[in-house]
Amino acid sequence: MNILVTGGAGFIGSHTVVELHNAGHTPIIIDDFSNSEASVLKGLHKILGEEVKFYEGNCNSEEFLRSVFAENSIDGVIHFAAAKAVGESVENPLKYYDLNIGSLIKLIQVMGEFKVEKLVFSSSCTVYGEPDEVPVSELTPRKPANSPYGNTKSIAEDILRDVVKAGMNYQFIALRYFNPIGAHESAEIGELPNGVPSNLVPYITQTAAGVREQLTIFGDDYDTKDGTNIRDFIHVVDLAKAHLAAFDYLNGKSDSFYDEFNVGTGEGYSVLELVQTFEKVNDLKLNYKIGPRRSGDTVKIYGDVSKANKLLNWKTQKSLEEALKDAWRWEQKLAERK
Ligand code: UFG
Repeated sequence: MNILVTGGAGFIGSHTVVELHNAGHTPIIIDDFSNSEASVLKGLHKILGEEVKFYEGNCNSEEFLRSVFAENSIDGVIHFAAAKAVGESVENPLKYYDLNIGSLIKLIQVMGEFKVEKLVFSSSCTVYGEPDEVPVSELTPRKPANSPYGNTKSIAEDILRDVVKAGMNYQFIALRYFNPIGAHESAEIGELPNGVPSNLVPYITQTAAGVREQLTIFGDDYDTKDGTNIRDFIHVVDLAKAHLAAFDYLNGKSDSFYDEFNVGTGEGYSVLELVQTFEKVNDLKLNYKIGPRRSGDTVKIYGDVSKANKLLNWKTQKSLEEALKDAWRWEQKLAERK
């Protein structure tokens, strides 16, 4: 299948491109490099041994999307392209609603014009807010999002559900990602944060590499096993493979179809456990301190992933240890490049 991957030069997108190619599909990338770099395409070339078809542009332009659909016989779409900085979304909500919601609506419309029916959408466990109970399953009620970014994910799910409810001929899946970490084992692609990382693992690897002086753990006075937040950290390659599984599942569907799936490991680790595991598997000492809480952080969340295990026939294969080794290998490779 020819699969259009919007945001295919991004962290999760690029790893998904590799898995699509390995499974015999032809990925076609759209990216505007707003949160990625052309070097990612070189990394993909090295891993795959051939160039991936690429279009530079923004998905919030119907004209641009139409030109890509007109030139290619596209069988399905994976829509990663979106802005994802929680803090920035609080300061500039219109940017987030315009970009994240606008591009989804335009994409669905252009798909319709070209009779492309299948779409896998990047959603997030952020739709659960601060859950009353963990693990969260797809039946756990969603809660009001605590940022405009998070709200764009909830609204996007509503759009997909409503379009299908209206009987339009589309098959959609929303994958609710937990916390993706790690990098491809080749260390040719990985996470490329823009400026100072706000996510935990890139901050850790940059601290270990001497790019940052010290990691601050945001709070150790939460009501959790060691007082730090609990997350479900999933290796990005396992997450990438979930998109393939979602496509296989959609291939058995016709007419109007929508469903959502949690994509995580099913296990919760604390921030401190993750830091200690990073030190252990990479045999180093990390400079870190405990600081105050970060506002807006969910205390504890991890997923019940039995629905994806069963219906998508997908399961994580990689451990936290492997993810943290791969993340460190990638950071070291980045340091060599400079
Ligand atoms: N953390 C630190 N120090 C840091 C960075 C993070 O202690 O320097 C802690 C956070 O407080 C949190 C945990 O590490 O407890 C994970 O933080 P991340 O920023 O890596 O990830 P989040 O769980 O906050 O955010 C992720 C995605 C968001 C998404 C959110 C909810 O990055 O895009 O999950 O789904 F909105």
